[in-house]
Parts: sequence; structure tokens; C-alpha cells
Amino acid sequence: MAISERAAQLKASGRPTISFGAGEPDFPTPAHIVEAAIAAARDPRYHHYTPNAGLPELREAVAAATLRHSGVTASGRQVLITNGGKQAVYLGLAALLDPGDEVLIPAPYWVTYPEATALSGGVPVPVVADETAGFKVTVGQLDAAATPRTKVLVFVSPSNPTGAVYSPEEVQAIGRWAGERGIWVLTDEIYQQLVYGGIAAASIATVPELEDRWLIVNGVAKTYAMTGWRLGWLVGPADVIKGASNHQSHMTSNVNNIAQRAALAGLTGPTEPIEEMRRAFDKRRQTMHGILAKMAGVTCVEPEGAFYCYPGLEAHLPRFGTSMGVASYLLEEADVAVIPGEAFGTDGYARLSYALNDDDLEEGLDRMGQALERAQD
Ligand SMILES: Cc1ncc(COP(=O)(O)O)c(C=O)c1O
Repeated sequence: MAISERAAQLKASGRPTISFGAGEPDFPTPAHIVEAAIAAARDPRYHHYTPNAGLPELREAVAAATLRHSGVTASGRQVLITNGGKQAVYLGLAALLDPGDEVLIPAPYWVTYPEATALSGGVPVPVVADETAGFKVTVGQLDAAATPRTKVLVFVSPSNPTGAVYSPEEVQAIGRWAGERGIWVLTDEIYQQLVYGGIAAASIATVPELEDRWLIVNGVAKTYAMTGWRLGWLVGPADVIKGASNHQSHMTSNVNNIAQRAALAGLTGPTEPIEEMRRAFDKRRQTMHGILAKMAGVTCVEPEGAFYCYPGLEAHLPRFGTSMGVASYLLEEADVAVIPGEAFGTDGYARLSYALNDDDLEEGLDRMGQALERAQD
């Protein structure tokens, strides 16, 4: 927040600030989705409340997409349409947690996980994944962190902020471990379709040992460049979904009817626009990773998914103290905004999003590289 605010201030004062902070695609929503929303806005049938859990046709389309992309069979009754993946995370944890229940959260983590855990009276337990392990936690680490109070493991692959994607074998091993210990898995699959290099992101919900102790979080925000439309979903056992739906009913009621029709167009429409965005991200991923990996005092694991790099800044810590210190230096000296790793539970790193245009991406990285080189002199 501090970096974003200062970056906005500098930009407003006329400085040529380039921000790598974006947590959303820079593309517009594909035209066929926008057209569906316009048609819905013109049709009085969509001017009213929908069932709290969502339009039946959208719940069915989400169930079909869950089978297509996650390999998990669920009925429309097992789907709750939510105000973004963020609300799905919160409602899923709220449905599962009793006060004092512990939630294993692999770090670096998306900051909402510990906050949503705490809001439900749960206790977040970060499990720090090592850079040398590609920022992926191991069964051994999870087992060491688990206690009799462990209720849920939050699993996210591809990951925000690291872009790490667990291999099918790693997913199986972690799912089996959770299943054998009776631990629920909340799997956040929002970046599932943004994977590169010919790999696929396996869903942990397919692991048989988990039986029905899984909840899938997903949504249209990242895949369809629809962050502002606020539409996500939670899929899981019918009783948990019913509980989460009751909760949502008294908080916010159904999601915006027009946005639901737009999401339906996304899920059932052509896939070329999605593939085009994915290819553009892949190109930028390679550019960014290639430049970061050669930068003075910087290490960089190659990300395989999402739209982030998570470089290590260890060599710069003696001078700047923390990654917040490095980020402040880069902002003041190079007009480049990066998100310090403290925001994701791991100091010594920074998150750079490649969801920005090619010119800014290269110019920003060039300035960053020069500033870090000067810092080492
Ligand atoms: C890992 C992860 N999950 C879920 C979300 C939620 O997305 P939304 O609430 O916009 O659907 C985000 C957004 O940044 C994210 O990074």
C-alpha cells in the first residue's frame, strides 16, 4: 500500500513512474463478453435478483468448466457464484472453520488468505516454501507444521506471487497427505489457465484420498480479463456450499445479474481471445525472467504460471535492510514500483507483474537494472 500510494503521488507530480504492481490483466474484457453484458442490460429479465447462489445456467456452466479444466465432477448444486474469487475464499473458510482452527498457508502467500482465516476466527500458520524448491512446499514441511487443530490447507497453483506451478506428482503427494490426515484443502485455481511451456496445472481436488474434503475457488477475473466485473465461484460438497450460500445471502445476496450473464458468455464462448492473452503473457514472462535473471544481485526462479516474477534481492539487503528498503530505493531513484516481499510473508524478495505493455516492461526493467547496479558500486 505504501509503495502504491507513493508511486501514485510521484506519477501525479509528473514523474515517469512505471509500475510492476498490477494484480490484473492489462487487456480489455473480450468483445463477445461485453456484448453479452450489453444485451443483458437491455433485457428486463436480467434487471432483477437471481437465486442467491447464482443463475442456474451459470452454475451449470461453472460445473462443466470445473470438469473441463480441473477434471472434477460436480453438479450445479455444488456451485456458489460469488463476488469474485476473494469472496469465495472468505466464504469457504468461514464455512469450514471453528474458532481456533489452524489453516496451513504456504508462503509466499496472497495476503487475503491469512486475513480471511483470521476473520473467521481461524489461526493462519504460514509454511515458508524455499526459493531453491521453486517456492513449492513439501509434504515434510506441511507435516511438520500440522497439529491436531489443523483443519484446512490453502493450496494455490499457479501461485500469486511466485508463479510456481506444482507438478502432477507433487499435487498427488500433498493431496494424499492431507487426505490421510483428514485435512480439508481449499484450492485456489484462479490462475489455472495461465500456464506456460506446455504444462497444465493439476487440480488437487482430483486426489481420491481427499474424498469430499475439498473446495475449489475460481473465477473469471484473470482468465477473461474481468477483474472489475466481480465474479467468482466456490465449488464443493453440497452441504458446505449451502452453508456458504446462506452466509452470502445475508451479506451481499446474489452477484450482479448482468455480470453473471457476462461470465456465462465467457465460459461458453470462443477460447481464441483467451489464448491470445495467454500467449502475450508468455512472451512477456520470458522477457522479464530473462532480464531479471541477469540483473545485478538478483536471483529469479522461472515462473510457470500466473503473470508474476518473484525475484530474490538477498544481495541488496545489507545495504537496504529489507525488500521494502529496496522497493523504496527503486521508486525514488528509478521511478519503478515493485511490491516488496513482506506483503507476501517473505522478506528478501519482490513481486513484479508482467501485466503491462512491452515498452514499459522493458524500460522499467532497464531502469531497475541500472539502479541496482549503481547500488552495488
Ligand atoms: C491467488 C488469487 N486468488 C484469488 C484472487 C481473487 O480474484 P477476484 O476476487 O478478483 O476474483 C486473486 C486476485 O488477485 C488472486 O491473486
